[in-house]
Amino acid sequence: MEIQLWREILDPYALAVEELVVKFNHMITEFRNAGEYSPIEQVNGRVKSISSILEKTQKKKIDLEDFENYLDDIAGIRIICQFVEDIDKVVELVRDRNDMEVVSEKDYISNAKASGYRSYHMIVNYTVYTYKGPKALKAEIQIRTLAMNFLATIEHSLQYKYKDNMPEHVRKRLLKSAQAIVVLDDEMSKVRGEIMDAQNSFKRKANVVADILTNIQNLYKVANKREVVKIQDEFFRIYQMDDLSQLERFNKELDMISEGYRAQSLY
Ligand code: GTP
Ligand code: MG
Repeated sequence: MEIQLWREILDPYALAVEELVVKFNHMITEFRNAGEYSPIEQVNGRVKSISSILEKTQKKKIDLEDFENYLDDIAGIRIICQFVEDIDKVVELVRDRNDMEVVSEKDYISNAKASGYRSYHMIVNYTVYTYKGPKALKAEIQIRTLAMNFLATIEHSLQYKYKDNMPEHVRKRLLKSAQAIVVLDDEMSKVRGEIMDAQNSFKRKANVVADILTNIQNLYKVANKREVVKIQDEFFRIYQMDDLSQLERFNKELDMISEGYRAQSLY
């Protein structure tokens, strides 16, 4: 096959990866804008490299001309979640969409691989529109927790280094780490509520501080300088108290002050 042809074949896959990453990232934004917890923490995508395609076709004895029909992961999306529970939520989100048609699913979380690898895999049909018209192709979506991703990444690089000859002591260590990851995910699930609360108040604090600063900035335009400086000092004093409810109360006061100026300027 000519090199130029490779590029032409892989191009729509690059488009698919870009589109899918945009769509999943937008879900994160939607959840956050709605003030809800996002089951998706992070999204990555890649098109399989030509060298990996060559390697896989050789290993699986696939005719190179046919690789598109045999490889499901030319377009690959990886969705990282914080908690195991989030994975089911993401799977449902994918199943419910009309732009991704689920072809197959593999649950390596209930059934971990011999290597200890855990992840939820979905193969979907996805259509991209090129200048030549629509092209339906397959994409692989891997869904896993941060902890599962940590292990998979390390394990993958070791597999690459040792090929099929991973020394026994390394393999054993990996399996032990895999068990530790199961325990870690389990522990995280138990304190999920607390972690989500903590993240929520972190975000609330960031939002209220941003609001207060905008308010102060706007007051600079309309209020007397000395008054604004006083407000600013008050903000620093309250900020140091490290009490979210005090910051929120202060922000409400600022809202009222700003409202007063706005009302005045109307007359
Ligand atoms: P592949 O020939 O590897 O694609 O296997 P498959 O077609 O049976 O699909 P499977 O769902 O088993 O694996 C698809 C992808 O999952 C791989 O390309 C890897 O990215 C990942 N994967 C599967 N098994 C392992 C594993 O043991 N370790 C790591 N690190 N990743 C794995
Ligand atoms: Mg595969």
